[in-house]
Amino acid sequence: MKATQYEGNKTFSIQEKNIEEPAKGEVRIKVAYVGVCGTDVHIYHGMMDKRVKMPETIGHEMSGVIDAVGEGVTGFSVGEKVVVRPLDDRKVKASDKGFNHICEELKFIGIDSPGAMQQYWNVPAFTLHKLKENTDLKLAALIEPLSVAAHDVRLSGLTAGETAVILGGGPIGLLVAMVAKEVGAQVILSEVNPKRIAKAKELGFDAVSPIDVDLVEYVKGKTENRRADVVFEVAGVQPALDIMCEVAGIRGRIVMVAIHGQKKDVDLFKFFWKELKLIGARVYEKEDYEKAIQLITANELPFEQMITDVQPLTNIQQVFENIDNNPDGLKVLMDCQL
Ligand SMILES: NC(=O)c1ccc[n+]([C@@H]2O[C@H](COP(=O)([O-])OP(=O)(O)OC[C@H]3O[C@@H](n4cnc5c(N)ncnc54)[C@H](O)[C@@H]3O)[C@@H](O)[C@H]2O)c1
Ligand SMILES: [Zn+2]
Repeated sequence: MKATQYEGNKTFSIQEKNIEEPAKGEVRIKVAYVGVCGTDVHIYHGMMDKRVKMPETIGHEMSGVIDAVGEGVTGFSVGEKVVVRPLDDRKVKASDKGFNHICEELKFIGIDSPGAMQQYWNVPAFTLHKLKENTDLKLAALIEPLSVAAHDVRLSGLTAGETAVILGGGPIGLLVAMVAKEVGAQVILSEVNPKRIAKAKELGFDAVSPIDVDLVEYVKGKTENRRADVVFEVAGVQPALDIMCEVAGIRGRIVMVAIHGQKKDVDLFKFFWKELKLIGARVYEKEDYEKAIQLITANELPFEQMITDVQPLTNIQQVFENIDNNPDGLKVLMDCQL
C-alpha cells in the first residue's frame, strides 16, 4: 500500500508499505478521503516539528471503510463506513473531571501518532463512529471539522432567534455559520478576503468585510441595536479580538475557537461593562461527532460547496504547495485510493 510521510522541510514522500494486521483492540480502515486541515499546513510549514516525530504520516479529517477487525473488537464489522474521532484519551485521570476530550495527557491521532494520509490505517476501535451505508464518503471527510463547529455552537448555548456573528470565514468559520443557521439563529459573517466573502454569499450567508463596512453599525442595524448574542472568534487575529467585545451585546457570549499561540490584547473592561462571557472551545466530544454525522447524513446544508478540490493522495506534495499559493480555497480532499 501507499503511505505518505512528512519528512520535514516542506517535504512529503510516498512510501510503499506492507498492509499491517490490526493489533488487539484495533481495526484496519481502508481510507477513502482525507481532508487537509490548517493544522496539517502548520505541520508542513515546520511549525510543529518539535511535536511531530518525523518521518510521520499525518492527517486526521477522514472517511473510510472497515477492512479488518482486530482481536477483542466488538460491534464493528468489515465493510462498514466509519470516521475516526482522532482523540486518544487512554491516559485520562480523575483530575480531568470526565472531560476526556481535553484531558491533560490527550494525544491527537494524526499529529502525535500516525494519521490518515495513507491507503490503510490501523486505529483503536474506541475512536470510531459508524456512518449510514448511503453516506457520501467525500462529505464524510468533513465530519471532523464539522464536529468542531458543532462543539462551538453547543458550548455557546445559541438558540433560535438569537444573532450570531462569526469573525473569520475560513473552513471552520463557514461550518460554524452553517451549524448556527441550522439552530435557527440570524447569522452574520465577517471576513476580509473578497473571494471568501463571495463564497460565503454563494453559500447563502449574510457576509461582509469589516474593512468595507463598520461591522458594529452593521450588526446594530440588523438587531435593533441589540448587537450579537453570540460572537465566534474564528479568525485568530488581533483585529478580530478588538472587534469581538464591540460586536457583542449585553450579556453576549464570545466563543474562542481560534488558536492564539501568543498572548493578545483584549478589552476586559467590556466584560465588566456588558457582563460578557468568554467561552473556550477545543475540539469536540462524542455527541458533537454524532451531531455532525446527523447533519452530513441529512445533507441539507451546502457541504458540497465546501470541497474546492479533490486530488489523488500521491499528489500530496503538490496539494500542499497549491494550498500555499491559493489561500482562497476551502477544503481540499485527497482520494486515498488513487
Ligand atoms: N478550537 C478548536 O478546536 C479548533 C479546531 C480547528 C481549528 N481551530 C482554529 O480555528 C481558526 C480558523 O480555522 P480555519 O481553518 O478556518 O482558518 P483560516 O485561516 O482558513 O480562516 C481564518 C479566516 O479569517 C479571516 N480573517 C483574517 N482577518 C480577519 C478579520 N480581521 N476579520 C474577519 N476575518 C478575518 C481570514 O481571511 C481567513 O479566511 C484557526 O485559528 C484554527 O487554528 C480551532
Ligand atoms: Zn483538523
